Amino acid sequence: MSGAHHPRHASRPSRVLTIALPIGLLVTALGMLWAIADAPAASEGELPPVPVVAAQLPGVDVGGVVASDPCADPVVADALAAGDDEAAIAAFGGGAAFRDAVVAGNAPCISLSDPARLWLVVNKARPLEPLDFEPASLSGVDLAATTSSDRLRPDARDGLNALAREADASGAGVIGINNGYRSYNLQMSTYSGFVASEGVAGADQGSARAGFSEHQTGLAVDVVACDDGCGDIDSFGSTAQAAWVQEHAWEYGYVVRYESGASDKTGYMPEPWHLRYVGHQLAAAYHEGGFHTLEEFFALPAAPDYPH
Ligand code: DAL
Ligand code: ZN
Repeated sequence: MSGAHHPRHASRPSRVLTIALPIGLLVTALGMLWAIADAPAASEGELPPVPVVAAQLPGVDVGGVVASDPCADPVVADALAAGDDEAAIAAFGGGAAFRDAVVAGNAPCISLSDPARLWLVVNKARPLEPLDFEPASLSGVDLAATTSSDRLRPDARDGLNALAREADASGAGVIGINNGYRSYNLQMSTYSGFVASEGVAGADQGSARAGFSEHQTGLAVDVVACDDGCGDIDSFGSTAQAAWVQEHAWEYGYVVRYESGASDKTGYMPEPWHLRYVGHQLAAAYHEGGFHTLEEFFALPAAPDYPH
């Protein structure tokens, strides 16, 4: 559709306007010269200072007070450049402030799609970018392992070691690891195995497709209870270790990612064994805020299924 037509000939300006316009422009120009002459002299090589008020910065209105852009804080920028996610969150003011800024759209330097960050959200609607992402560093955990997939990112590994030590010390029992990091290719064969035995619909209830799993980031771990030998993931939910994990995982930077009653948000059946490392500050905010899914925590759409 074409735009509105402009008249080919503008109407002739009145005589008053013909005189008033040049006078007005002259007054404005004189005013500008006066303002420049009156400004404090800038030292050599410096631009004159530009007054900045909070309302001019991109920000959020918090009860009438406009908070400035946290991403403009050099401490945030330095922490992000150094890959120190906990320091970046701290510079935002902690986990709850970080979440609030992201949800308010006041954190353009934070991408919930960055697979190397603690705040990554991957689900059926949010594939890993790139799909074949590999973590920069992985190391083995100090726990009994029931498979050879016993590596995690170092920060997640430290959190899990501490969690398991404390579970044991507090009398809940020994915790072991079933699966930590799974590569794109391993996730593909894991998922294909479920498809072969349960069909696509069944597999999609419990196993992520390759490129859609938290296990591929090195931030997720499936834990098991090890009493007389280690059990499997399916029996974990009824153990003392599971009850302890549900209550205390956040103290070690973890959240139980696929809780009971949350399948319509997460897209998966409950998995009390699947822990996701988000770091201490985000886990504390998640716990204190009473959240049950990362989708709700970051006010993201529910992801019950893959887009068709
Ligand atoms: N079991 C979870 C959903 C995964 O495969 O990542
Ligand atoms: Zn898992």
